Amino acid sequence: MLVATLVGSILTGTATADEPVNTEQLVAEMNQRIATIMRSSPIDGVIPRFNQAKSLGCLDATFRVHESINNEFRQGLFAQPGSYRARLRFANASQQDDSEKDIRGLSIKIFGVKGETLWGESGIQDFLLNSYPALFVGTPEDFLDFIRARQEDKMVGFFINPFDSHLKSLWILFKARAVHSSPFSIRYWSTTPYRLGTDDSMAVKYSVTPCSGTSEPPAGQPGKDQLSSAMKAHLDRAPVCLEFSIQKRTHPGDMPIEDASVIWAEDVSPFHTVATLTIQPQAFDTPEALAACEKISFNPWQSLPEHQPLGRMNEVRRETYFSASQLRTKEAPLTNW
Ligand code: HEM
Repeated sequence: MLVATLVGSILTGTATADEPVNTEQLVAEMNQRIATIMRSSPIDGVIPRFNQAKSLGCLDATFRVHESINNEFRQGLFAQPGSYRARLRFANASQQDDSEKDIRGLSIKIFGVKGETLWGESGIQDFLLNSYPALFVGTPEDFLDFIRARQEDKMVGFFINPFDSHLKSLWILFKARAVHSSPFSIRYWSTTPYRLGTDDSMAVKYSVTPCSGTSEPPAGQPGKDQLSSAMKAHLDRAPVCLEFSIQKRTHPGDMPIEDASVIWAEDVSPFHTVATLTIQPQAFDTPEALAACEKISFNPWQSLPEHQPLGRMNEVRRETYFSASQLRTKEAPLTNW
């Protein structure tokens, strides 16, 4: 049966993105397909996010920029030491059941930031991270190819099509999807690069890691909400400490801007911690808190110019995140956090 499905999918193939598309056309098609997918799968009457749909919780935090940062990293938000109010959203990429293998997401919104932003509302800096250091596709064309296949129910053909194979994507997903015991024990990466500074001389990636020396957080009650249960168990006991760090692009040939499926080697260029996130105990799982969590929106372009998103994968995200967020929250103001 599986073989027949595979052969059928390979023969019918998926729609491919081989034909040249300009970025504007690509974004328009992505937006239209993402909207159709979102509308087709409401959860409890609510239009869910296209990606990272299950909120594990939104939490208030403090983002403290360190005093002892390498001079070359003292740019934008990291130019001066200081403390900022932050809001974090932890989520599952595709599963509603926390006990299933999945990629987890961490979105960070920092308030009270000085300076005009590239997009959105001044005074706010967003960072978006995933629990694996590479994205499963390298280019927006491949991402669009994946969206077409998902919408047309041709996923097998997307991965195994002999004329346009995405076996590397399959391998990355195999490694990236995991069962996790707590969102507070996971490491997260930006996967895509960002500028650091006012010109193009430095590109970096970000990572968030549990603070060194912290003990393994408690596990939650096993079951479909085991990750939010683990967050609650941890916060009932102690604050959470996470380190925010930066990796510099030192070897352009091995550290591409335009291929999000390539991991920048840490033994070649290690991450440097520049800030600490602290989450104090708080009630994040009340119905009101969870409803507010559904309304919050993030965008990599909600950013100071010194942290400008780089590469075409990031370029298309400005429009697709805005359009998807409008669709989900159009009954409420976009900035209803
Ligand atoms: C072309 C590439 C990509 C597209 C089209 C895309 C699309 C989307 C969309 C439509 C959403 C939902 C936005 C909303 O409803 O507010 C989303 C959420 C998200 N994406 Fe992506 N994505 C892309 C690449 C990435 C990459 C490289 C990362 C790596 C960190 C990432 C991480 C996330 C996270 C963490 C969220 C959840 C945001 C939240 O908490 O609201 N995405 N993505």
